[in-house]
Amino acid sequence: MGRGDAALVCLILFLGRLSTPAVGQSASGLTREQRREFLLTAEIIGGRQNGEGLTLPWRLTLSDGTITHDASYSTVDERRSIMEFSDGSREVNFVDSYQYNIAAYDLAVVLGLGDMMPVTVERRWQDKHGALSWWVDDVVMDEARRLKKGMRAPDTEAWNRQMHRMRVFGQLVYDTDRNVGNVLIDKHWRLWMIDFTRAFRLWARIDRPQDLTRCDRQLLERLRTLTQAEVEEAVGDRVSSAAVKALMARRQLIVEHFDRLVAQKGPAAVLY
Ligand SMILES: Nc1ncnc2c1ncn2[C@@H]1O[C@H](COP(=O)(O)OP(=O)(O)OP(=O)(O)O)[C@@H](O)[C@H]1O
Ligand SMILES: [Mg+2]
Repeated sequence: MGRGDAALVCLILFLGRLSTPAVGQSASGLTREQRREFLLTAEIIGGRQNGEGLTLPWRLTLSDGTITHDASYSTVDERRSIMEFSDGSREVNFVDSYQYNIAAYDLAVVLGLGDMMPVTVERRWQDKHGALSWWVDDVVMDEARRLKKGMRAPDTEAWNRQMHRMRVFGQLVYDTDRNVGNVLIDKHWRLWMIDFTRAFRLWARIDRPQDLTRCDRQLLERLRTLTQAEVEEAVGDRVSSAAVKALMARRQLIVEHFDRLVAQKGPAAVLY
């Protein structure tokens, strides 16, 4: 083969690489916007449901021909005027809804916390509507397991900062199910908050003020300037106006809470 032929072969191989989709290409480098697009448009090629419950989320596999990735799909949408739990407690105006997973994610983005939650969109599948969340890559354990094993993050301060951000967000949206199974930890010790189907309660109070001991400076400033119109735009019809009003009242209480703490203890002890 002459030099000209060799160059032609190289060119053909090069063009071939450009046009052939790299099947199995890594999805981890995608931006949030690209993940969103993928979740909205990629074909659902498989799925399985862990456990037996009717409302348990599915683990679906999606592919756009280039990238294949999993996503969690929840269709739970339960509303009851009075809910009685197995421990005897009751909740008035109980809601457990996939809509809140989407609203929580969209609100987290507005607050600058979008990187702490998997991208979540609404998607129809098998004649149902549901929330489809990017399957978090490289999950090593959840918070329940970390606590059980007594494991500590290599950078404790960085870990605590993520925890405090999550607590502030959890109190803002009044999530009644912020249990240790809903906190995922990846191999870089990044904390991922999932499962907000029981958030957006109607109560205009902070559930656990004792959890709010420190706050990210940027988050506090963002909360200070957050308007009802911004929240309404983020959550749309997924959250009732009464629940948005309650959230705005909690926002005010959280800001006042931290302003008080800063006045008592000084900024360095509270803000980071
Ligand atoms: N986006 C995700 N990425 C990785 N793992 C996920 C994701 N979503 C859910 N999971 C896994 O599936 C489990 C159940 O999902 P989820 O918490 O949304 O549903 P659930 O109905 O509340 O279940 P449970 O009652 O066990 O908390 C999670 O605890 C987690 O281990
Ligand atoms: Mg859960």
